[in-house]
Amino acid sequence: AHTVARDADGVLTVGGVGVTALAEQYGTPAYILDEADFRERARAWRSAFGADADVFYAGKAFLSRAVVRWLHEEGLNLDVCSGGELATALSAGMPADRIAFHGNNKSVDEIHRAIDAGVGRIVLDSFQEIVRVSHVAQSLGKRQRVQIRITVGVEAHTHEFIATAHEDQKFGIPLAGGQAAEAVRRALQLDGLELIGLHSHIGSQIFDMSGFEVAAHRVVGLLKDIRDEHGVELPEIDLGGGLGIAYTSDDDPREPHEIAKALTEIVTRECEGARLRTPRISVEPGRAIVGPTAFTLYEVGTIKPLDGLRTYVSVDGGMSDNIRTALYDAEYSVSLVSRTSDAEPMLARVVGKHCESGDIVVKDAFLPSDLAPGDLIAVPATGAYCRSMASNYNHVLRPPVVAVREGESRVIVRRETEEDLLRLDVG
Ligand code: LLP
Repeated sequence: AHTVARDADGVLTVGGVGVTALAEQYGTPAYILDEADFRERARAWRSAFGADADVFYAGKAFLSRAVVRWLHEEGLNLDVCSGGELATALSAGMPADRIAFHGNNKSVDEIHRAIDAGVGRIVLDSFQEIVRVSHVAQSLGKRQRVQIRITVGVEAHTHEFIATAHEDQKFGIPLAGGQAAEAVRRALQLDGLELIGLHSHIGSQIFDMSGFEVAAHRVVGLLKDIRDEHGVELPEIDLGGGLGIAYTSDDDPREPHEIAKALTEIVTRECEGARLRTPRISVEPGRAIVGPTAFTLYEVGTIKPLDGLRTYVSVDGGMSDNIRTALYDAEYSVSLVSRTSDAEPMLARVVGKHCESGDIVVKDAFLPSDLAPGDLIAVPATGAYCRSMASNYNHVLRPPVVAVREGESRVIVRRETEEDLLRLDVG
């Protein structure tokens, strides 16, 4: 849990550090990440699943070298999905055998680097990739541990852009029409591959466990078919990530131990029914670990009241540091954090500084009506998919990530500078 409080002046403090001091030292906007909270969540997932299962943190949610080191120390593994994420993980000392490599279009060069580095598994996403990985592994004289990602055909209850288990989409090999069974046949035949299991990721920001239940049922069904056809029991199954977090008080997420218990029970029950040894389970939570651990600190700029409608509150960032509202209609909350106020609440829309009317950070929120330029406001739960999806739109500089812990703060990803921008512009 966050160590959030208000000091005697009404200033919000996190990890023992006041937000006005943070804004002074690091500027705004800034992502403020509570290291103790991150470690606590990582540890909770780790201990919920225990020694017979593996937790792979999904690096796409947010990755930096400090995060990699925390994960390593807390005993988690890491899921990467690009050469850049792989490079970050390796450069921060994550042992390669604790890395899983994902992606629907890994380049031959990325596959080469991953196998050469000795990653613990590559998750095969297509028929062509089965052949590609086999070739590259053979050219390196290695046998690569692989899983096959299957799309089990369930509709996860979440935004369409982040649902991934229905069959009409780019990820994975469909169970339907015997395609996944055929992929298994090929993977078992080809040299250079050691097929260790099956993988299913049904989507993201999910609260309802029934999708996982259907997925586990179908994955175990395929494990059984594989046993019957080939006489092998694949030793692992990965159920992906996707567990939802609370963005607003309407969301009611499950605790890691409840999730671990539910998933383990589902898989065990299904395997008993199929008379299979229960495989080693792994999961890939990203958002559920890092999402709640950070908030974005903004300074209020222009305020535009529109009578009878709402007040537009502009901040010094926007869709470049949080694209989720524009992209997924995501909901966020917001609070005044540099002081307290007893003023009447006003209906506000928090918007950014970009040249686009869809540049909204918080669509509908109440803020005190005495809000003024220079006040600091915070948007919670921006640890996942905000810095990692940040852009330079309008040549706005991407904000830093500042970690706080026990009264101390430090930059773990620095603010972009105009020199950074111009360095890439070599025309
Ligand atoms: N494993 C795989 C194979 C994935 O594709 C993902 C997310 C995860 C694990 C982690 O999912 P999580 O536990 O973080 O939900 N940009 C979107 C989310 C896209 C998720 C993509 N894949 C958002 O901001 O909501």
